[in-house]
Amino acid sequence: MAETTSDEREHTPEESEPDPEHIMQVATGFWGTKVLGAAVDLELFTVLSDGGLRASEIERELGLHPRATRDFLDTLASLGFLERDDDGNDPRYRNTPETAAFLNKNDPRYIGGAIDIFNQQVYDVWGGLEESLQTGEPQGVIDETGEPFWEEMYDDPMELEAFVEGMAGLSKGNFVAFAEQFDFSDYDSMTDVGGALGDLSRIVARREPHLSITTTDLPEVTELARERIQADGLEDRIDAVSSDYNEEPIPDADLVTASLVLHQENLETKKTLMQKFYDAVNPGGTFVAIDHIIDDDRQANTMGLMMSLNMLVYYGDAFDYTGEQFMTWAEEAGFEDVQIQHLNGPASMGIAHKH
Ligand SMILES: C[S@@+](CC[C@H](N)C(=O)[O-])C[C@H]1O[C@@H](n2cnc3c(N)ncnc32)[C@H](O)[C@@H]1O
Repeated sequence: MAETTSDEREHTPEESEPDPEHIMQVATGFWGTKVLGAAVDLELFTVLSDGGLRASEIERELGLHPRATRDFLDTLASLGFLERDDDGNDPRYRNTPETAAFLNKNDPRYIGGAIDIFNQQVYDVWGGLEESLQTGEPQGVIDETGEPFWEEMYDDPMELEAFVEGMAGLSKGNFVAFAEQFDFSDYDSMTDVGGALGDLSRIVARREPHLSITTTDLPEVTELARERIQADGLEDRIDAVSSDYNEEPIPDADLVTASLVLHQENLETKKTLMQKFYDAVNPGGTFVAIDHIIDDDRQANTMGLMMSLNMLVYYGDAFDYTGEQFMTWAEEAGFEDVQIQHLNGPASMGIAHKH
């Protein structure tokens, strides 16, 4: 038996010895964000949508430096975003079923807008996390007019479209889960508040032909929603109405929904909004909030907790909330039979009935 030197003994991990692996994984997590973000930005998955290409062909197509090509492509394959066909010097790479579906620009299921937002805007804003943690102040680049940059976006249709497209990328899976799980049979009308491009309304409209649907948002976004609704041939089913929920009453309906809306407001506005939702729901109807609702122990839903930090860096006093908090605010507004139901990944819906 080989002798163990004292040096080796010192470095042999004991079972109870703490392991830094998880710390390092989280510390380098943004490497993966950046690799995926670059691949989407360079439209790699769109370029690969007609089948596989060799490394040399991708290099030419994307204008990659020869030093970078194999590291970039093999990292993507190792992360599970590409399939590699052979191990020769010039292997062929193909999309996985997921990247083919969700990261090819020409596929209607494209969610690259969300990846772009995370890779660029959210990444930059999170650079100020420590500042927000110590001051409670948002980190959105406030320009000389004092306007947060996301409000400025509403003046630039291209930028606004990219942003709302990005948000839709975050939400589409939740909307499909909502449309599949929720029983719409008792309702004739639905209003989706802060509905952005009308994705929730369009998904529900296709499955529930009996529902008359209204989607609301600020005027600039409503204009974009109208274009999408028309392009889908759903203009007879969905009315896109420009309505500021802070200034105007919410259009009434049997079912009122609000996805990623409550979480972007402070406590006072959350409570005021909850009352407005109650007033908008017809008697016997229901309000549904879709958010990354945090578990009551504030322990399990890491994405929900991080989403709340995201609200801190973006808006300062806005925050994500637990199921218990939702129930309290809903009951204060007059709702009854309030429940939380899991939807998809970190997202759940808060369901509140009006008698
Ligand atoms: C985070 S996005 C969520 C969009 C969509 N519901 C989803 O889940 O993907 C919030 C939406 O609320 C809209 N919004 C913000 N303030 C609003 C207001 N005062 N009145 C109406 N809509 C508003 C924004 O324009 C944006 O489309």
